[in-house]
Amino acid sequence: MGTAHRSHGRVAPHAGGRLRNHHGVMATTGAARIARIGKRYVKPVVSDQVWLTAKTSVRTFLGRRIEDGAPPRGDMHYLDFLRELHTVVQPATYLEIGVRWGSSLALSRTRSLGIDPAYNITSELDLPLRLERTTSDEYFAREDACRWLGGPVEMAFIDGMHLFEYALRDFINVERHSRRSSVIVFDDMLPRTTDEAAREKHTDSWTGDVYHVHEVLRQERPDLTLIVVDTAPTGLLLVTNLDAESTVLEDRYDEFVAAYSSSDPQPVPRRVLDRQGARHPAEVLASPAWEALRAYREASPPLGAVGFPHFESLT
Ligand SMILES: C[S@@+](CC[C@H](N)C(=O)[O-])C[C@H]1O[C@@H](n2cnc3c(N)ncnc32)[C@H](O)[C@@H]1O
Repeated sequence: MGTAHRSHGRVAPHAGGRLRNHHGVMATTGAARIARIGKRYVKPVVSDQVWLTAKTSVRTFLGRRIEDGAPPRGDMHYLDFLRELHTVVQPATYLEIGVRWGSSLALSRTRSLGIDPAYNITSELDLPLRLERTTSDEYFAREDACRWLGGPVEMAFIDGMHLFEYALRDFINVERHSRRSSVIVFDDMLPRTTDEAAREKHTDSWTGDVYHVHEVLRQERPDLTLIVVDTAPTGLLLVTNLDAESTVLEDRYDEFVAAYSSSDPQPVPRRVLDRQGARHPAEVLASPAWEALRAYREASPPLGAVGFPHFESLT
């Protein structure tokens, strides 16, 4: 997201195609461990006990007390939210488009793939990782795309080029490599100003116009589960109940780009700027649906052994 960015960990200079952590220990190469260089508020509808647990957990990881009652909006940084999301989703594989300094990638502990034509890792990484120094379009054009993960993408973060059509293509490509229970996360879905949402970047923090993706998915893919989260600074969108076989977006891609792209200044809808309908991060993390999602994942195949979790309370 734009340039509002947290630095996590220490500088990890790379050498000889491998990453070195702050202990000076090389990330192991090989099948098991590969580091390859180069290439928001709403009353909780979950049970009181779950909500209480969530508040406790939020207090813990924010390192400060949240008063009883409604926490203020947008009080959780997206990286704090993502760290907790990794914990509740427990993905076996993780894909990130747009790595930059590695702050969000460093939250993963599972087999991961990072794609960015200009990454410059300064975060301490501790994960089985493959980095691809290329654009997401080029990467997904490869026949063996995502093969290194050894299975479908179970969690992904789309934070590459901040233009609507790029983010839509990224979603189409990632969904094709996902399973129904996978979770795809978009950054920058809640721009705060018209300037921040411009297609032509002229502000420090830049979301671009990727927020259109939410409307396209809402209108055209009613089968998906969409959850907008009121994180700081510019919101996230979680997507699950995916369908790797769906061709709706691909088939009508040109139509969507023509219909949703507009020139600057972006007429960002009031409801987006006001974050209407966005969910409080702690409520999302406390949803019992995550446990159900993990159970679904573990029980499939055989498909149908357990129903896909309902996120009604969050969507
Ligand atoms: C906002 S930064 C990513 C920040 C990172 N996800 C985090 O939260 O720490 C966006 C990154 O996307 C990369 N990028 C730009 N165009 C891209 C493309 N077409 N494919 C993949 N990455 C791209 C840029 O090089 C930049 O490093």
